[in-house]
Amino acid sequence: MFSVGGKVAIVTGGAQGIGLAIVKELLRNDAKGIAILDMKSDLGKPVVEEINNEFGAGKVIFLNVDVRHRNEVECAMQKTVAHFKHLDIVVNNAGIFNEIEWEKSIEVNLTGTSNGTVLAFKHYLPSYKSGNEGVILNIASVAAVQPTLPYIPIYSATKSGVVSLTRSLGHSAHYQRNTVRVMALCPNYTTTEMTLSKENRFMIPEFFNYQTQLDLESPPVFQEPEHVAKAAVEIIGKGKNGSVWISEYSNAPYEIEMYFSKK
Ligand SMILES: NC(=O)c1ccc[n+]([C@@H]2O[C@H](COP(=O)([O-])OP(=O)(O)OC[C@H]3O[C@@H](n4cnc5c(N)ncnc54)[C@H](O)[C@@H]3O)[C@@H](O)[C@H]2O)c1
Repeated sequence: MFSVGGKVAIVTGGAQGIGLAIVKELLRNDAKGIAILDMKSDLGKPVVEEINNEFGAGKVIFLNVDVRHRNEVECAMQKTVAHFKHLDIVVNNAGIFNEIEWEKSIEVNLTGTSNGTVLAFKHYLPSYKSGNEGVILNIASVAAVQPTLPYIPIYSATKSGVVSLTRSLGHSAHYQRNTVRVMALCPNYTTTEMTLSKENRFMIPEFFNYQTQLDLESPPVFQEPEHVAKAAVEIIGKGKNGSVWISEYSNAPYEIEMYFSKK
């Protein structure tokens, strides 16, 4: 089993929420160093201070990156390798919920995750991993694999794309060549800023009302980001290449069956 101990990681969107919880859980499991890539530059200093206080100095660096831009992600990967000497794990977690500015959602959730995945997969993990394997974990959502979520179509589409990207590059044919495992984790409702105030982010105002009605009929059950983070580190350690996992209701994560042609 792959051990996080002594490894170097990148976590995108790691300044708060699920990403920050993953950073801390990696450090609890003795990761050597982590680069947090986030566009909220104002959070850089306080987050690094918070982690220094909790885990000791020198474990994290903060890089101000907008994952939508390939050159910024690549530059951050170069800086991570220059600083920590290796790169073993990339967690593509940065994401937004914004159905009004759908181009932006597609750019952050799908282009951004593709930037982190492809650059790591093609070059940075095969070239700079410290052990036998590199690992990519993409944070998707249960919205990617639900049969239908009528009121959040753009978010669902972007997260389905993340799952497809993961399964394509998580094929065994690739692993034989570059020994990089690629997996996806799909959280269900988690208590973060993203789930706090969604009212003005639906495509059409009525969609928010319909979603509220659905939530009243079947109230969502929230889990804490720390729970998702534990699942993430477990999957980084033991998940099969190409596998897709769910984390929900504070239960242990479980892998889901996806379609495979029977031919
Ligand atoms: N919270 C939930 O219920 C939930 C459920 C399923 C999936 N997710 C996914 O989990 C991931 C983390 O979400 P969260 O709930 O912690 O949200 P969050 O809003 O608390 O954190 C998201 C982080 O991503 C960063 N980010 C956003 N756009 C960026 C960009 N262009 N470049 C760099 N950083 C950027 C933000 O600055 C922030 O730090 C997202 O991909 C989200 O879609 C969340």
